[in-house]
Amino acid sequence: MSGPRATLPAADLARTVVFAAFIAVLGLFPGLYLGGSGVPIVLQNAGPLLAGCVLGARRGTASVVLLLALTAIGLPLLSGGRGGIAPFVGPSGGFLIGWIPSALVVGLIVARLNRPNVPVLLLAAAAGLIVDYVFGITFLGVYTGNLGTAAVQSLVFVPGDAAKVVAVALIGAVVHRALPGKLVGS
Ligand code: BTN
Repeated sequence: MSGPRATLPAADLARTVVFAAFIAVLGLFPGLYLGGSGVPIVLQNAGPLLAGCVLGARRGTASVVLLLALTAIGLPLLSGGRGGIAPFVGPSGGFLIGWIPSALVVGLIVARLNRPNVPVLLLAAAAGLIVDYVFGITFLGVYTGNLGTAAVQSLVFVPGDAAKVVAVALIGAVVHRALPGKLVGS
């Protein structure tokens, strides 16, 4: 019942809530609207990637769901102090929803490879980002009626997102080294 790797539901809940708050803090950095799609360049999308790396699939996904649920009911947790349903039905909607499977995939890859070092975390974060792009670009294509244009407009995100993937992998590795065995898979 209380082995060394057992995790109390209360501790799970606390980590989930703290991480949702952390992702909300990333929303304090304002979005930058470049490329004409109406989807901002943000720092906040690093949050779901880091959540999957650090908390694992279950708790990482839960933290993103919590953040998005609080946003949907009106809390101004997205960049620029936005909240409510509007961001979910605007051009960013697919990218926002994609944060959920993104955190899930990152957590599953880290757990499967069972070695949270920088190369594994880089691979996992890159995969999570690609999952978000699939959701985001597909939705944007449907929203604008032109998938090709949506894909081209989204190229503006790639340099910043590549830097975020590297930063997430480095931060994730440091956190795992500081708390060995206490996060993913616990
Ligand atoms: C919003 O705040 O309305 C949602 C923002 C979604 C932004 C997407 S996430 C992937 C890509 N990288 C960015 O920096 N912006 C887009």
